[in-house]
Amino acid sequence: MVESIICRDYRALSDRAAEIVLDTVRTNPEAVLILPTGSTPVGMYARLRKSEADFSGVSTMNLDEYCDLPAEHPQSYRSFMQKHLFSGVNLQPEKIAFPKWEGNITEQCRRYDAHIEAFPRIDLAILGIGPNGHIGFNEPDDYLIAGTHEVVLANETRAANKRFFAKEAVPERAVTMGIAPIFRAERVLLLAAGEQKCAVVHRALSDKVTPRLPASVLQLHKHVTVLLTEEGS
Ligand code: F6R
Repeated sequence: MVESIICRDYRALSDRAAEIVLDTVRTNPEAVLILPTGSTPVGMYARLRKSEADFSGVSTMNLDEYCDLPAEHPQSYRSFMQKHLFSGVNLQPEKIAFPKWEGNITEQCRRYDAHIEAFPRIDLAILGIGPNGHIGFNEPDDYLIAGTHEVVLANETRAANKRFFAKEAVPERAVTMGIAPIFRAERVLLLAAGEQKCAVVHRALSDKVTPRLPASVLQLHKHVTVLLTEEGS
């Protein structure tokens, strides 16, 4: 079931997204959340930081991370999360998880899947969407992958993320959660800001389900809330 909510502007989208996260955490103080990075959730994270809600029992798992950037690099997704959320709420460091790429990447992916699978319930998966319809870094391809895996980023993704990298090249590879944990989540919250994103979401949710447009699989999920606004993030 997909419900779409059109928000007046980016502020309204961020307010609504934060409310949904806060409701989830109030209902279950030990909630398990899947979290995105990128421009779109920045407003939502700002509201969560201001909320003074109790995150001490909450566990988080991030969707993805660039390969070849150390965790402390300013453009790593770990640094992004530290800046936009972790530094401002009382999440316990041992309840925060990221996919890792250092060393044996296949082994790292397997460990991340084992970590995810150990949770009997995932309450909420929050997603952004790429200009090419990717969710996490599950890029358009002939197939979708259930588990955590290494991915070569699509040219479109690297071009879109160039804005975050001043002089350096955008990493070519990343490690991403697969589709399975998103489907285990009780609820998916998909955020899309800007006309281009709205158009991709429309295509993904109203046409055929295809791995060429990864977000289209969300049509098969039991409970998806899409927050859309034409205003960019
Ligand atoms: C990032 C992620 C990506 C982004 C997507 C949109 O963790 O999973 O799927 O959500 O690339 O990014 P923005 O919000 O920067 O347009």
